[in-house]
Amino acid sequence: MKTPEAFLAENGLPEARDIDRSSLIAAFISEMEKGLKGEPSSLMMIPTYVGVDGKVAPGTKAAVLDAGGTNFRSGIVTIPPSVEDRKNQPMPGANGPVDIESFYEAFASEVKRVLPKATARKIGFCFSYPAEATPDLDARLVRWTKGIRADGVVGQYVGRELIKRLGGGEIAILNDTVATLLAAKATEGEKTYSSYVGFILGTGTNCAYVERNTAIEKLSGLDPNGKMIINAESGSFNKAPRSSFDLAIDAKTMSPGDNPFEKMIAGAYLGPVGHEVYKAAAREGFFSKEAAERIIGLASLKTMDFDNFTAGCKVEGRANPLDEIFAKPADAKMARRLGLPVFERAAVFTAVHLAAFVIKTGEGASSSAPVAINADGSTYYKTRAIQFDEMVRRELDDMLVKRRNIHYELTPQVDDAPMVGAGIAAML
Ligand code: BGC
Repeated sequence: MKTPEAFLAENGLPEARDIDRSSLIAAFISEMEKGLKGEPSSLMMIPTYVGVDGKVAPGTKAAVLDAGGTNFRSGIVTIPPSVEDRKNQPMPGANGPVDIESFYEAFASEVKRVLPKATARKIGFCFSYPAEATPDLDARLVRWTKGIRADGVVGQYVGRELIKRLGGGEIAILNDTVATLLAAKATEGEKTYSSYVGFILGTGTNCAYVERNTAIEKLSGLDPNGKMIINAESGSFNKAPRSSFDLAIDAKTMSPGDNPFEKMIAGAYLGPVGHEVYKAAAREGFFSKEAAERIIGLASLKTMDFDNFTAGCKVEGRANPLDEIFAKPADAKMARRLGLPVFERAAVFTAVHLAAFVIKTGEGASSSAPVAINADGSTYYKTRAIQFDEMVRRELDDMLVKRRNIHYELTPQVDDAPMVGAGIAAML
């Protein structure tokens, strides 16, 4: 019988060591360049009209909304970074379809709650979905990701619509990767970095970086000496090879074909990919008959359960269906062996992704300061199946430092980075 690794490779899911990192990095950079020039590309490369040079007055308080993956948070942000008066609720449209009015009502009522406590006039709004940015920091939603169902909002200028319902005001909207980049920039203290990458790996994934070539036509009209943060919308990168498991889950999502890269590495999808691996492996005879029947019959697999099981962690008070299905030691061992490569591929793809953006900043050569990478998101920090952060660093040391002599630093995590960054944008 073939090994589980051979079975995975036959289905297009290679072992980490067999992933061709260099050609993926080259493909990423080529897609970035095409996207910047406005040529057909899987990367949107959205100019954000946000630079990195502004200063905020300490003590200012900004009202902030944070429409993230499946959560909607709100509160008051102060610099040095702290968040007060917080509230967390489900993102409108995350638990079933909502119409336009109820969508905006959820945000308007939070603005009414927090704005009276703010000293900054502008509201900061972190909006973590693909949206075109305008010079006055409004955002036109291109499409939903993360399964949000509020169809009427697609194509709308979210800031303008919200202001209409508030009867006036000013809003600065920015993507969570841009907010994360700004947040870490504002908290770096004594350090000097030559450039910045903002990265999210949570329910979804994406990168923002600082582009210095403002001669690019798409960025025209900008300060020719200035630099601009670009929101790449890198979750939609389509040059990474997909396995039959990825294709199977993609077909079942609400947006088949969209965000293929995100669907291989982000939190919303790792569990479903793992489930496809298990079902296919069960059909190939890798499990006992009983386990095979039960895993094929399981309705769905949450990333958290897949992760905890692969890590060998039992969480008190949380029943994990995999603990029962793979109760026999031989099944459990096989399931872990089949599950690990899903996480390892995610870590290698994450590193490839980050390396490509660090290279694209054009900085970090040994004669300059390192490029800062500011990472945020639950999948990056909370995955247990592998030492995710460590594996990414090891890969980056090889891809960037050893092979290209480019220096980087993963900055310490900033608490509530997306909210803090949105607050900074409101204060600037
Ligand atoms: C969205 C991005 C966002 C990323 C991380 C993706 O699904 O399209 O705009 O930055 O998730 O939250």
